[in-house]
Amino acid sequence: MVKVIAVANQKGGCGKTTTSINLSASLSFLGKKVLLIDLDPQAHSSIGLGVNPEELEQSLFDVFDEDGKDVDISDVIVKGYKNLDLAPAQVILSAIEQKLSGIKGRESKLAEKIKTLKNAYDYVIIDCPPSLGLLTFNALCAADEVLVPVEPSFFSLHGLKKLLETVALVREVTGRAITTHSVITMFDRRTKHSRELVEDIKNFFGDNNLSVIVRKNIKLQEAAQAGKPITEFDKNSLGFKDYMQVAVEIMERCGRDDIPSISSFLAKEDPSPFSVREEVSGNDVVATATTVAIEIQTASRTDVAVSCYPKVVTGGVLFSFCAQEAQCIEIAGDFNNWERKKLNTPGLSETTWTTVVPLSLGVYRYKYVVDDIWVADPANEYRAPNPFGGEDCIFEVS
Ligand SMILES: Nc1ncnc2c1ncn2[C@@H]1O[C@H](COP(=O)(O)OP(=O)(O)OP(=O)(O)O)[C@@H](O)[C@H]1O
Ligand SMILES: [Mg+2]
Repeated sequence: MVKVIAVANQKGGCGKTTTSINLSASLSFLGKKVLLIDLDPQAHSSIGLGVNPEELEQSLFDVFDEDGKDVDISDVIVKGYKNLDLAPAQVILSAIEQKLSGIKGRESKLAEKIKTLKNAYDYVIIDCPPSLGLLTFNALCAADEVLVPVEPSFFSLHGLKKLLETVALVREVTGRAITTHSVITMFDRRTKHSRELVEDIKNFFGDNNLSVIVRKNIKLQEAAQAGKPITEFDKNSLGFKDYMQVAVEIMERCGRDDIPSISSFLAKEDPSPFSVREEVSGNDVVATATTVAIEIQTASRTDVAVSCYPKVVTGGVLFSFCAQEAQCIEIAGDFNNWERKKLNTPGLSETTWTTVVPLSLGVYRYKYVVDDIWVADPANEYRAPNPFGGEDCIFEVS
C-alpha cells in the first residue's frame, strides 16, 4: 500500500524542499518506488531535481485545473533518478486557489488524483508551499503522515500550533488517522542557542520528533544548485548520512517491515551531532576517535561519562567507556547473546574501562550497562529501536 507523506510547515525556509527531495531520493536509493509531488508554485523541488519549469508543457496546475481537460498526475510525471519520479510545479500553480474558488470538493482534488496512481509507488512525498492555503490543505487531505521540518531558530515554534490544528481539522473532516512527525533540520551544534532550541523542539513534539537530527551541511545546498539529490551528488557527505537516517526512521514509523540495513552505506567514524572530534595518537598509529560526554543519572548521583567510538584493534574491537564514579561497567550485545560482560577495571590513576571483544566481519548491536543502567553509546549515533522501546547501537566490522 502506498504511503502518502506531506512535508509541511507554513514557515518559510525551514527545509521542506530539502527534506522532500532528499527523503524521496534516500527512499528510492533504498529500493523504494517514490513519487515526489512539487506542490509549491516556487517549483523548488522541480528545480532542485534539475527540471526547468519553463520548459514544461504540462504540470500540476493542469491536474488541478479541470477546464474540460482530464489530466492525471501520471500525465505530468517527469522521470527522475532510478526509482524516483517527479510531478513538477510551475509558477501558475499560485493561481489555483482563485481558479477553484467555490468549486465543490476542491480540497480533496489531490487525494482523488493520487488514488488514480493505484499502487505504482511505495511512497508519495508532497513538498508543500510555505502557507496554510488550499494547496497545503489538499496535501494534508491526501496524506497518511505529515512530516514537519523545523529548523532551530527563534521563531521556529511560532505558528506550529496552527499547523497542528489544521491537521486535526483534516483528521476530523476526512475521518482518517493522520500521524504528525517532526524532523529538526539545519542544526549547527557549535551554538549553544541552537542546542537549547533543539531541546524546545523536542519538548514540543515529544515522541513524534524523529531521533535523527539533520545537520547544517553545505553539500545539501550545492546538490540543490546542481539540480541533484544528495544521493547523486555526494555519498560521503553528512547530508547523505542524515537523510538516509531520516528515510529509515520514516520507514520504521510507517510500520514498514522490509527496512534495509543502512550501516554499510555509512562511513564508520561519522561524529554524532553533539560530538567532538579529537586526534588520538598511539605508538605509531594515529586514529581519529570520537569522544562524547553524557550524564548518567542514578538515584544518588549524576555521573559524567565519556565514551569512545568502538575501534578495530588487533584481536577484536576495543570498547572504552569512562565514568568517574562508576562501580561497574559492562557491555552486552548480540555478539554475546546480550550476556553482560564486565569491562576491565581501570588502574588506580585511570578512569577508563576497556575491553577487546573478538568480533569477525559483520554488523552488531550493543549497549553499555553502567551500574545496572542500560546506556546507549553516546559516541555512536547509529541506532536501531529494540523490542524494549529503547535503542541499540549499531557497529559494523568491515
Ligand atoms: N541541512 C541543511 N544544511 C544546509 N543548508 C540547508 C539545509 N537544509 C536546507 N538548507 C538550505 O536552506 C534554504 C531553505 O531550505 P528549503 O528551500 O529546503 O526550505 P523550504 O522550507 O522549502 O523553503 P520555502 O518555505 O521557501 O519553500 C535553502 O537554501 C537550502 O539549500
Ligand atoms: Mg520549499
